[in-house]
Amino acid sequence: MKLFLDTANLREIEEVASWGILDGVTTNPTLCSRENLPFEKLVREICRLVPGPVSVECVSTRAEEIVSEARKLSGLAPNIAVKIPVNLEGLKATRILSAEGIKVNMTLVFSPSQALLAARAGAAFVSPFIGRLDDISHHGMELVEQILTIYENYNFVTEVIVASVRHPGHVVEAALLGAHIATVPYSVMEKLVKHPMTDIGIDRFLQDWKKVTDK
Ligand code: G3P
Repeated sequence: MKLFLDTANLREIEEVASWGILDGVTTNPTLCSRENLPFEKLVREICRLVPGPVSVECVSTRAEEIVSEARKLSGLAPNIAVKIPVNLEGLKATRILSAEGIKVNMTLVFSPSQALLAARAGAAFVSPFIGRLDDISHHGMELVEQILTIYENYNFVTEVIVASVRHPGHVVEAALLGAHIATVPYSVMEKLVKHPMTDIGIDRFLQDWKKVTDK
């Protein structure tokens, strides 16, 4: 499973890129609003740090406007994927943009039927929001399972990005289901490698090694 970082923060991106496990980045208007750089400069900087796809969200609401905004965004760097919310206007725009070879990440996906239509419209990625479904007492991972089954049934090439990830368990479940990608906030990314038994084990080995070198 590929790991994307869900952030617009350059320091976080640089840090996780240095771990050697970063495959891409997803941003959204909320994440961009937390940063201090002008939007286009921020996007260019992120794309420079990450070799893989960088999702940047369109904020237009009508199909023609989404299309022109997406064309402009995709011109900012070669690795841009435009994020478009999955509604009727978004679907129309996705069909046009995917025919032009622009990668679309259909976002705010909360049902398997939305994911089916996104794939039919030619989206390169779909982003089911797992944590937000869990927040309203649904089981977000069931949605991922349903989407993966539908895509397998028809050999869709659209990749599933498990989004709105809140804890390491979401990442593990996504991998067990065979999701293509999980997009993970920095705080969760750090937790993926942490285990208290590892830290205790390192401490014990270091203490014992001192006994060896003190001889
Ligand atoms: O990738 C989508 C993600 O940023 C949404 O996460 O935590 O706002 O539900 P959250």
